[in-house]
Amino acid sequence: MKNVLKVDPHAPQRDAITRAAKILQGGGLVAFPTETVYGLGAHALNSQAVRKIFIAKERPDWDPLIVHVRDLHMARPLMKRLSAQFEMLTSRFWPGALTLVVEKAEQVPGEVTAHRPTVALRMPWHPVAAALLAAANLPVAAPSANRFGRPSATRAKHVADDLGDRVDLILDAGPTPIGVESTVLDLTRSPPAILRPGGVTREELANVLGDVTIARGVEKESAAVGRAAPGMALKHYAPSARVELFDSPDELEARANELREGRQRVGKIRDVRADTLFTRLRALDAAGAEVILCLLPPREGIGLALRDRLLRAAGKGGEQ
Ligand code: TXA
Ligand code: MG
Repeated sequence: MKNVLKVDPHAPQRDAITRAAKILQGGGLVAFPTETVYGLGAHALNSQAVRKIFIAKERPDWDPLIVHVRDLHMARPLMKRLSAQFEMLTSRFWPGALTLVVEKAEQVPGEVTAHRPTVALRMPWHPVAAALLAAANLPVAAPSANRFGRPSATRAKHVADDLGDRVDLILDAGPTPIGVESTVLDLTRSPPAILRPGGVTREELANVLGDVTIARGVEKESAAVGRAAPGMALKHYAPSARVELFDSPDELEARANELREGRQRVGKIRDVRADTLFTRLRALDAAGAEVILCLLPPREGIGLALRDRLLRAAGKGGEQ
């Protein structure tokens, strides 16, 4: 495709980065790799540019975006105040797969935060993302670069399949190394609450914070107001095929046989891994699977995030 530029994931080409940075500065959309998934980026302080993200993704305007920064200097003016917790967490986990929700500064446009008083901040380590943020020299609002409700994009091809020419430029640096989105941690609650499990594990956070909870009941609350709360949409990250989940391989195989006897096209994921989950869901979909059977991993470590995405793909809410 004409709007795809291949870049070296370890040492991105200067000219590609400069071209992408200029597009961002001019209010355009650039899809770029991060260590978690591809992001669909726009100048975070330009409301007009941010609105383009929602249109391209067909994302409802109540779902707020993550703002990506190159360093703490860029983060500071976006937040109302600095806390000891924020400093402790960023010194341990930034750059990395941890997004921190804090009270926002005045200058962050309401379009970015869905008119909430908070903003989600993250500093990615992927060399392409880091180079782009440095070259553009501005905060970049970027959700995952998939169409709303689809599995996140972990390859440039997924971005092109979902967004095509709705994006001005796609930087293709191959598959993203982690493959599952960042952990979203709400620092405005005490103790801090994980709104979305992700690349940084609950165990790692607990080591630093002592106490961390997983947000509960957000779905129920939001159902009452007729829409899902951020990150908590019941059916999300979903392929078109129906997803069924199993705790034991024997149950999974028994169900596979039953479905095959009923002449259904069945896909199986028995060894779910962060770096291949979304690619496999998309591939099974493309291959025409009607039902995808998947073995749930244990709740430990990255398993918590994988269970969360699988439960959502199956339309059962997240790991609560
Ligand atoms: O790994 C990632 O986080 C990727 C890469 C591109 O950085 N981004 C990503 O963005 O997954 P998105 O928009 O697909 O998911 C961001 C999540 C959403 O669930 C959103 O509701 C939540 O973060 N979020 C953003 N701002 C928030 C806020 N102010 N309060 C609560 N949740 C927020
Ligand atoms: Mg997303």
